[in-house]
Amino acid sequence: MTKKATISIVQFTPKWLDKPANYAAIEQLLAGVESDVIVLPELCATGYSFLDKSEVVAQADSAEAFAAFLLPIAMRKKAVIVAGFAEKNGENVYNAALIALPDNRFEVYRKTHLFYKEKLCFQEGNSGFKVVTHPFFDLKIGIMVCYDWRFPESARTLALAGADLIVCPSNLVTTVWEIGMKARALENSVFVAVANRCGTETRTLEDGSLQNLSFTGQSALYDTMGAEILKANAENNCVLTAEIEVEKSRNKAFNAFNNIFADRRPAFYQLGNKPD
Ligand code: ACM
Repeated sequence: MTKKATISIVQFTPKWLDKPANYAAIEQLLAGVESDVIVLPELCATGYSFLDKSEVVAQADSAEAFAAFLLPIAMRKKAVIVAGFAEKNGENVYNAALIALPDNRFEVYRKTHLFYKEKLCFQEGNSGFKVVTHPFFDLKIGIMVCYDWRFPESARTLALAGADLIVCPSNLVTTVWEIGMKARALENSVFVAVANRCGTETRTLEDGSLQNLSFTGQSALYDTMGAEILKANAENNCVLTAEIEVEKSRNKAFNAFNNIFADRRPAFYQLGNKPD
């Protein structure tokens, strides 16, 4: 019988710069969750609307510090938990995702493609894309963060490295991503889990005007054909859970002649250089 993995996506509205409140909200949301993989949004401990690097430096945590919060939950639940956070590493700050493994290890992925004012706040990620193996389940999990979706190379890199499931902690402010995430699933024959936040963050800018960022929720899990397995609404905190048949991501053939990995023609792809 095909083994099924249980995946939970967590959607919530972090309280801006209130880490104790956000940790408490995460603990409460996860209280009844029993899943193999749990995905939380991007920057879920602090909120999103940083305006410059000094603001991030004041709020960011070392990976070890964030792991001290997340690892006990991962171990208690025997789950891989992936959550976005502002990471401080020496002088540098990254928009990162912690991957807390239930055997008391962790990894860090640093967002490769920075979006909008993130470029004023964070260093570009230098970890490279990561695929982790669930220690207690035959499942490989690839990690990207939010705007990484817009680059098919992100998901392709993860899929070629063996990911069965791509998880994407997110703070998305549009809905166009839905088309892209479905395509990333279909073109790689992988499952894709998007944990987006909801709610609005308001900041006063230097000129006195207000910056309102509204996040679009609608967190989702897609199957290997890009079809929706789960979808949250736009507004509310929630945890959605479903089972996936991991085996379906392992066969990249869709008829007797075509296999989306074997059919690739890398010699004809010119993907290495930025245009002049
Ligand atoms: C985004 O990358 N937070 C849109």
